Amino acid sequence: MGAEPYYGPDFGLLQRQDPEIAQILTDELDRLCDGIQLIASENFASPAVLAALGSTLTNKYAEGYPGRRYYAGCEVVDRAERLAIDRARRLFGAEHVNVQPHSGASANLAAYAALLQPGDTVLAMALPHGGHLTHGSKVNFSGRWFGVVAYGVRRDTELIDYDEVRELALRHQPKMIICGATAYPRQIDFAAFRGIADEVGAWLLADIAHTVGLMAGRALPSAVPYADVVTFTTHKALRGPRGGGIMCTEELADKIDRAVFPFIQGGPLMHAVAAKAVAFGEALRPEFAEYARQVVANAQVLADGLAAEGMRPVSGGTDSHLALVDLRDTGISGAVAEHRCASAGITLNRNAIPYDPEPPTVTSGIRVGTPCVTTQGMGGEEMKEVASMVAQVIRNPDAVEETRVRARELARAHQIYPREL
Ligand SMILES: Cc1ncc(COP(=O)(O)O)c(C=O)c1O
Repeated sequence: MGAEPYYGPDFGLLQRQDPEIAQILTDELDRLCDGIQLIASENFASPAVLAALGSTLTNKYAEGYPGRRYYAGCEVVDRAERLAIDRARRLFGAEHVNVQPHSGASANLAAYAALLQPGDTVLAMALPHGGHLTHGSKVNFSGRWFGVVAYGVRRDTELIDYDEVRELALRHQPKMIICGATAYPRQIDFAAFRGIADEVGAWLLADIAHTVGLMAGRALPSAVPYADVVTFTTHKALRGPRGGGIMCTEELADKIDRAVFPFIQGGPLMHAVAAKAVAFGEALRPEFAEYARQVVANAQVLADGLAAEGMRPVSGGTDSHLALVDLRDTGISGAVAEHRCASAGITLNRNAIPYDPEPPTVTSGIRVGTPCVTTQGMGGEEMKEVASMVAQVIRNPDAVEETRVRARELARAHQIYPREL
């Protein structure tokens, strides 16, 4: 180790060779460890996951799949990919798993490529109501190359309007229906989506990028028994390396594999595949179920705490790891709230609420998530404290300094990475 404490393999060597980058790594570690991380799509990967990510497996070209590669010398990395697949299959009871997608967006691109032709119609959740860019945004491949019809949430309940989904499906006869979201706090009724997909003969894609960790830990019902294809990320609530994956029925296995490689990707990132195997192994342990349960419990306490401060959780609360919060009663926009919280060491993001009168750069809401703070070991008492800090700093810009001190103390009492090896 050099002078600066940092958790990571061979950090002393990096410091000697490239002090500029080493400094960035320690500064980022300080940022993480001195503040409260409420970005719903982030988490803290374990030291074991980080070790696999920082390994020599990054060197290996392994185009193809285990046992049928286009490069020699893959017999060792084959073992890593087989372990990743086996563990994921055990975790979710999936018939087939592909662990090579570089990200959630890549996994979705592969799913479209496997099931559709350009110009086909897709029914997916509207972005302003919680859907993802890859669910039909005009600035994304999905909206440019496919005919996307959007469903949303009801104005009164702020819940998915399954009657609307069915009506749109009957009217537009989509080839694929997508369920799963980026900013929807409630449980999704996958059985209802399955019924609608069957009624119109559409494929059902469940994009569980956000909730896959909660499903792995049985804190939310799994989409796997209902969807033809399930896409996911490994770096959010699942707590693994940055990356993606796809699960599907045996019937679609070849189509999905060929869509990932050679259609949308070249060589897999074998260090990331190994790190995914480590994360799946961690998620198979009983303590991960406890973690997933606590993530949801913490989100509920946080949402209730903010509600008590006059900040209304969209749909009245949450069943998951995140809450979407309507700030209109405070007179503060999402953008200003995000900025004030950031100044106080609380990282969260502005987010459109359903039927938001403000543009996406401003928004009337924020999104808060609990995967990071739960990994740090925080529980209900700490969530009440976090809710009070968020509310204090949003309402009163003069409270930034005081809140920053409170946030730092709370974060330092729950250190995630050892500062000395
Ligand atoms: C629902 C959903 N799908 C896909 C993605 C894309 O994942 P990635 O950023 O790894 O490409 C996200 C990311 O937040 C997401 O929320």
